[in-house]
Amino acid sequence: CGIVGYVGSATPSTRPLDVALEGLGRLEYRGYDSAGVALVAPGRDEVAVAKKAGKLVNLRTALVESPLPQATAAIGHTRWATHGAPSDLNAHPHVALDGRLAVIHNGIIENFFSLRSELLEAGVQFVSETDTEVAAHLLAAQYERCGDLTEAMRVVAQRLEGTFTLLAVHADHPDTVVGARHDSPLVVGLGDGENFLGSDVAAFIAHTREALELGQDQIATITPNAVTVTDFEGQVVTPKHYTVDWDASAAEKGGFWSFMAKEIADQPKAVADTLLGRTNESGDLILDDARIDEATLRTIDKIIVVACGTAAYAGHVAKYAIEHWCRIPVEIELAHEFRYRDPIVTPRTLVVAISQSGETMDTLMAVRHAQEQGAKVIAIVNTHGSTIPRESDAVLYTHAGPEVAVASTKAFVSQITAAYILGLYFAQLRGNMFRDEIHTVLDELRAMPDKIQEVLDRGERVREIARWMADTSSVLFLGRHVGFPIALEGALKLKELAYIHAEGFAAGELKHGPIALIEPGQPVFVIVPSPRGRDSLHSKVISNIQEIRARGARTLVIAEDGDEAVTPFADEVFWVPQCPTLLSPLVTVVPLQIFAAELSRAKGLDVDQPRNLAKSVTVE
Ligand code: G6P
Repeated sequence: CGIVGYVGSATPSTRPLDVALEGLGRLEYRGYDSAGVALVAPGRDEVAVAKKAGKLVNLRTALVESPLPQATAAIGHTRWATHGAPSDLNAHPHVALDGRLAVIHNGIIENFFSLRSELLEAGVQFVSETDTEVAAHLLAAQYERCGDLTEAMRVVAQRLEGTFTLLAVHADHPDTVVGARHDSPLVVGLGDGENFLGSDVAAFIAHTREALELGQDQIATITPNAVTVTDFEGQVVTPKHYTVDWDASAAEKGGFWSFMAKEIADQPKAVADTLLGRTNESGDLILDDARIDEATLRTIDKIIVVACGTAAYAGHVAKYAIEHWCRIPVEIELAHEFRYRDPIVTPRTLVVAISQSGETMDTLMAVRHAQEQGAKVIAIVNTHGSTIPRESDAVLYTHAGPEVAVASTKAFVSQITAAYILGLYFAQLRGNMFRDEIHTVLDELRAMPDKIQEVLDRGERVREIARWMADTSSVLFLGRHVGFPIALEGALKLKELAYIHAEGFAAGELKHGPIALIEPGQPVFVIVPSPRGRDSLHSKVISNIQEIRARGARTLVIAEDGDEAVTPFADEVFWVPQCPTLLSPLVTVVPLQIFAAELSRAKGLDVDQPRNLAKSVTVE
């Protein structure tokens, strides 16, 4: 869910509502099942609330029909449903104390059943099916006892189990918003005579780039001229101040038809930026934020990559590169599976957590589990100040800039790039590669942004085919070696964006089952490895194409410039520039992204906010 809080208008005005709606617009990628706001103003007995199921536009329309009064402070919420269907009633904010208190929440309150029973026994009446309403009534009861919103929040936060960011306003305190965080994201934005709270800095980036990073189990109380941060015991803490290094324009569409189209086009820059500043004065590779010594890293005997979704496929590519360069066994595991299967983790295991948001709860929990077992954790993350890098032992930041479209594109190529850097860093540390070998790969990597640009420049043919295929009901994707995770990613993109049944397979696995799916006209994408690489790999994939072609498949082939061997068996070839096999995912994924986005567009779907998804899934 996305959360925004604002306080600052000296006399009631429309600014609090404007800021809240603007922030929610930027946070909508975090969830868009419903949206709501609550406003407070001096002299008003009740909090003014408006909330609507569906996307933010529904709330905006409702506010035009029945406007809310002017205010001095506001909270706003955009929801990704967990407990209770996405209805008007279940939308946040939730109110208590006869409308004097309003609360918004991100996360899951795990002990909500027992808390709800307790409140029911005390005579509280519930109007929604959400776990959040429990927090609202608990906070109300506590506030009635102590008359202090921050103190009440502190007591309630200690009673809640699970994960939460909670924001509250009370009609008696029109100059205050209180926020609490436990395992869910919350940052403070610092303005001039006004202050902000947000799930991430996008919530207030249009107004300020100065921010405070909150730690776990902290409470922030903001008024127009002060921010006070305490822990759950009430001790004052000094949060870390930072300046956001991108501005509002980086999170806008800039003339593209969608955020996704812009983010696909941004990929050369994302890769180039991720490669910047990786070496020290003596030309050695370095980590960004290393709280782990090199001697410890040299003892590592196994790497486990944990991640979810697209980030997991970046990890899958990393396995091929890191094993090849460093001769360390690399496992790749979905974060939510890792934690619950009693994995073999020792102090000599290194866990690499890959996450665009740095907030994915499944990945965060895997990080914590690994650390409890004594393992060190390196994070590859895009969002500064997020939880996963804070809790990890070292970080490699991807520099993709803000990614707004829910399905990941530029973050993916940046994650792969960062994983290559990590692999080369290990090769340097362990002496697996000579220095000039490492620098040769780095130079090859530096050539990749231009090659990605070439693929983008050839995009029109991919778009044309996508439009022709708008009513296709099933597409298969085949790849071998590093082409295998790209086949998986191609299929995922098509499911996410175009709601088409799509499967990715290792091309060699085809004959062991999936080939039964091939019938005349079945479209199959095949990612062909470079013929200049290991020859047997290339010829095996050519054989695989022939096998499916013979059974009537329509073959859409991604091949390297000059690879004439593919043309006799391809209904269509999407050419990509020549590059080393291990680096090829950075170019081969691009036609698949363009294809999925264009097909989604041709079907008239919302490519940036596909149904049922959220960009940052902060629940397990
Ligand atoms: C969600 C998104 C995916 C993303 C995954 C991991 O499921 O819909 O696009 O790949 O989370 O997100 P992360 O922020 O950890 O990379």
